[in-house]
Amino acid sequence: METIIFDQQLEQAVEALKQGEVVSFPTETVYGLGANALDESAVKKVFAVKGRPSDNPLIVHVYDFDQVQPFIQTKHPLAEKIVEQFWPGPLTLIFEIKPESLPKVVTGGLSTAAFRMPNHPVTLELLRQAQLPLVGPSANTSGKPSPTSSAHVYHDLKGKIKGIVEGGQSQIGVESTVLDLSNPNLPPMILRPGAITKEMLEATLGLEVLIDQHLVKESETPKAPGMKYKHYSPDTPVMMVAPKDLLHAVRHFGKENYRLGVMATPSQIALIKDQVQTCFAYEDEKVQSAAKGLFSGLRQLDEQSPKLDLILVVTFENKGLGMAYMNRLKKAAAQKIYQA
Ligand code: TXA
Ligand code: MG
Repeated sequence: METIIFDQQLEQAVEALKQGEVVSFPTETVYGLGANALDESAVKKVFAVKGRPSDNPLIVHVYDFDQVQPFIQTKHPLAEKIVEQFWPGPLTLIFEIKPESLPKVVTGGLSTAAFRMPNHPVTLELLRQAQLPLVGPSANTSGKPSPTSSAHVYHDLKGKIKGIVEGGQSQIGVESTVLDLSNPNLPPMILRPGAITKEMLEATLGLEVLIDQHLVKESETPKAPGMKYKHYSPDTPVMMVAPKDLLHAVRHFGKENYRLGVMATPSQIALIKDQVQTCFAYEDEKVQSAAKGLFSGLRQLDEQSPKLDLILVVTFENKGLGMAYMNRLKKAAAQKIYQA
């Protein structure tokens, strides 16, 4: 199959989706792999194309909250307030749904489902024109870093999907926060950290928002099924390094003759750049820029030829958006951190 880049031709992308084809769409977090959520065979193609385990449920993308209402069995008392404040945006909400209102392939057989209204003008227009809820897992091969540009999607899936809707670089760079609202008697619980942080939710709601213990203690089983899988891993080994240990780490691996790549902020890169093979500098010192550049940096350094022996990536403080950055980085590095 030839994979088409849909630049200004939304109608063609809409038509393909209506016919049960798989089309990648841009969002503010990462690119998604779109298919009609109500068409079981279209959704099955998404799993096949990604090589995704079938017990990992998908997010249903919508263009407003009204489109979600018919699926909901029990609405959480805080749902409207959360939607009003944070949609469209990088926040996925889990609701208890009416039995059989979505195909089992979408929910992984759970009684709940995940919904999100992405904040990207092109994709909101696509959703409006299609008048269909679209599943949208990240548009990467399962296990690889999520795509933040159409080129990343093309690299992983060319020839396997009908097309890619061009929408520029994803501005946030890490996937949405997943928030469990399935039990109306319990406070909201974060199952996956993202750009809508615990602090932001608590400020809006005026109450404590819980965090899945798995995100705190690695021994716990995650409540979001997808969080248990290997993720975000380039072929080149990745290791975390605290900023204070960066120079030490670079000298250590330099002595061992490693071909080394480093991902860090511009000021950190300035300290070590003449001692390593290749660097990827985030746009500035802020954690927002680190999150935006994380996946694209991992992809870029993974494609060096000859291959690097190791990619060192600096850590950020584990709070606010830093929680999402560290969550993805720990998975990419399989928890390995440099000990000076
Ligand atoms: O930012 C994003 O959310 C991107 C863009 C494309 O919208 N999409 C994305 O989808 O990251 P995906 O499939 O890679 O991640 C969905 C996550 C998985 O961790 C999955 O286990 C969880 O949401 N999830 C889906 N349905 C769930 C449910 N009913 N209960 C708990 N977790 C659920
Ligand atoms: Mg994913």
